[in-house]
Amino acid sequence: MKVIASISEMTRFSENLRRQDQTIAFVPTMGYLHEGHVALMREGKKKADHLVVSIFVNPAQFGPSEDFSTYPRAVEQDLEKCRTIGAAAVFTPGSADIYPPGFQTYVALEKLPLHLCGLSRPQFFRGVATVVTKLFNIVNPHFALFGEKDYQQLAIIRQLVIDLNFDIEIIGVPIVREPDGLAKSSRNKYLTQKQRPHALLLHHCIQAAEKMVKDGETDARKIEDAAIQILLSCPDITVDYVSICDPVTLDGVTGIQEKSLMAVAVWLGKIRLIDNQILFLPNKNV
Ligand code: PAJ
Repeated sequence: MKVIASISEMTRFSENLRRQDQTIAFVPTMGYLHEGHVALMREGKKKADHLVVSIFVNPAQFGPSEDFSTYPRAVEQDLEKCRTIGAAAVFTPGSADIYPPGFQTYVALEKLPLHLCGLSRPQFFRGVATVVTKLFNIVNPHFALFGEKDYQQLAIIRQLVIDLNFDIEIIGVPIVREPDGLAKSSRNKYLTQKQRPHALLLHHCIQAAEKMVKDGETDARKIEDAAIQILLSCPDITVDYVSICDPVTLDGVTGIQEKSLMAVAVWLGKIRLIDNQILFLPNKNV
């Protein structure tokens, strides 16, 4: 497995594979890899001849009061995981390579970021779209894999490749969870023993919503309110949003559609946690 820090070397590596008619699957990450990332990598290995993973904690997607400097990092362990899975290369650029002095070109979508996480993190998706565009240009993959855990991010990347004419197939991978249902996240490491059970309320409130829909409730506001009540049963939780929305446009819906997205974001103390699930109208999910 090659560990490549230089942009030009990464591009040469991909060009060389492409010249030999080999396909490349790409998994962009910010490191501190867990089983969620591993699921993306395994899927990538299945899809293409070679897997390229990037590890880059992207400063452009963190707000001034967010956790960029304390975001967990464990590069050696990460490289070992990539090696075990059989990645062909891991791209580990430095911040000054991606954002050299004078950098001023950003990629921003007009509509999709005006929902869900984009409302409380106004620069976040501009940072994500910019870095992913740059990584796509550098790595030039045939496939790129993103987790459904970050549903809005996946929707934005799908739109971005259409709008900017990237010839890359975007593959969404289902959320990987802990045995009790908590969605795996690099930030779970911050949860104290006391907070850990409270984090599960995200999953529980979505399960409760699923049950309400199954039992015939179609009023999205009622379901959102019930979910909020479940979350607020923990005094340490601040709800950012609970939203039932269209899974493509992310526009809020008043009534449950055949297929609706339920997305939740909270602060548990200083830790931001998100989760989501598609809600299906009864008898339509078979
Ligand atoms: P990061 O949070 O490291 O996540 C990298 C990829 O792993 C994302 O596509 C994310 O959705 C996926 N992922 C994380 N947890 C998951 C889980 N429990 N189940 C399934 N997939 C999961 O997302 C980013 O990094 C960055 O925004 C990035 C796209 C790399 C741009 O900087």
